[in-house]
Amino acid sequence: MGLKEEIERRRTFGIVSHPDAGKTTLTEKLLLFGGAIHVAGAVKSNKIRKTATSDFMEIERQRGISVATSVMGFEYKGIKINILDTPGHQDFAEDTFRVLTACDSVIIVIDAAKGVEAQTRVLMQVCRLRETPIIVFVNKLDRPAGDPFDILDDIEKELQIKVTPLSWPVGSGELFKGVYNIREQNLCLYSPSIQTIQEGVEIRDVNSPDLDKYLGERAAKQLREDIEMTRGIYPPLDHQQYLSGSVAPVFFGSALNNFGIREMLDCFIDIAPSPLPRKTGERVVYPGEEKFTGFVFKIHANMDPNHRDRVAFVKVCSGIFARNTPYLHVRQGKMMKFSTPTAFMASKKSIIDEAYPGDIVGLHDTGNFKIGDAITGGEKLHFKGIPSFSPELFKYIENADPMKAKQLAKGIDQLMDEGVAQLFVNRFNNRKIIGTVGALQFEVIEYRLLHEYGASCRWESVNLYKACWIEALDERALSDFKLHKAQYMATDKQGRDVFLAESEYMLRMARDNYKGLLFHFTSEF
Ligand code: G4P
Repeated sequence: MGLKEEIERRRTFGIVSHPDAGKTTLTEKLLLFGGAIHVAGAVKSNKIRKTATSDFMEIERQRGISVATSVMGFEYKGIKINILDTPGHQDFAEDTFRVLTACDSVIIVIDAAKGVEAQTRVLMQVCRLRETPIIVFVNKLDRPAGDPFDILDDIEKELQIKVTPLSWPVGSGELFKGVYNIREQNLCLYSPSIQTIQEGVEIRDVNSPDLDKYLGERAAKQLREDIEMTRGIYPPLDHQQYLSGSVAPVFFGSALNNFGIREMLDCFIDIAPSPLPRKTGERVVYPGEEKFTGFVFKIHANMDPNHRDRVAFVKVCSGIFARNTPYLHVRQGKMMKFSTPTAFMASKKSIIDEAYPGDIVGLHDTGNFKIGDAITGGEKLHFKGIPSFSPELFKYIENADPMKAKQLAKGIDQLMDEGVAQLFVNRFNNRKIIGTVGALQFEVIEYRLLHEYGASCRWESVNLYKACWIEALDERALSDFKLHKAQYMATDKQGRDVFLAESEYMLRMARDNYKGLLFHFTSEF
């Protein structure tokens, strides 16, 4: 198979959801379809459960599991599918943001009873930044759920995206009878089953008298009315609009019961994009280009504190990545060869000789890589679309052991490269501020600094609302701002100017008073 065919048959996507909506279960069922696993329960949950907040060994153990389940590849109907796993715990949302930068599309799982929840809204904002194509799976129809029209309204309103249902549920909870496949006009009858894959029954269309036979008169009538209404409300799926992230096809089902998933998967392989071109600071990179390019989107530290090596996950953007071939590490300006690149099939990993655009390669890293680093066949490229987002929580980090200052500095440096949290240096007092998305990260950092670097830290609270990256339309305004707000000026790890706003009010005042400056909550604008 040539490069073009290999690219066209690849789909690289992420599944995101609010914790407990069913992401892990859906992932597992997709692998079951692909024959990548044979029994349910084979995929370990990658979520760090709430009970683990103070149990560090548990966190470490789960971090180990998540290496294995970081990427899950399988084949379905000749299509090579790569699922990129995202941490379920909301304190690790930053990791999820970054994984999304390597996805060409996304499936969002929503609990039918709960509707769109907080975490999903946040993740949707990230998808919107890159106009990521989205498919929605409404899960847990085997439990009592709201009216499907209300669920769709909720998705449109909360996720700010238009929807087109491509399957439709018949009842829910105890009255759940199945899903009607609007796309293929067949009906899949529900029977609770965790292991088997259920086939649909063929009917001509919803007006077929067979429908009454399968569903009973009342449910059949309701389904006919519902389908009639959907035709009036939702336009047929426009593929271009899906690809530009403005319309999301919606499927209904029950992941646990392996139900309604085939409908979605068949549609997914038809409509989801194969690897897309990527922007760099220099030019657009096309997957079909002959020379290899890729970027690091995730770094995973070794669980074993005696070995500080890590795995850098690289998304192949163009060309063919080959083992033992010298490539340019653009930021360091040096050539590197990789003798043990790994690929992931289900939860197994193996050494590979080559990888194609859309694939994820795990590279053994002794501390050379940072999130966002480019590796190329020689060209100096800087990939875009891998932004940092303003953290939610901030604390000063102080050295608690004067004998270990070097270890602490190194530890902080490496953990930040991994993307565990963000570091800002206040330019007024030179103090280091760590910003995180959740409280758990502070505990993880403290623990890892001690166990991996032998360094002790102390946290001191700092009252901040947001870190804002500054874009200067007027250089004079920037110098003036820096002079007047010196106490609140910091730099991020790349040396970019950041305004540390103490409150929403303070940020509003800054915006009002400095029209020549733009304040962004992400580092790329
Ligand atoms: P997450 O990764 O999004 O956090 O969710 P996960 O798949 O772990 O699912 C959360 C809980 O919801 C699990 O139950 C799972 O079994 C259940 N679940 C998932 N899909 C469905 C469904 O279609 N119907 C029903 N009724 N339940 C579903 P748990 O008790 O929290 O975990 P477990 O002990 O079963 O693993």
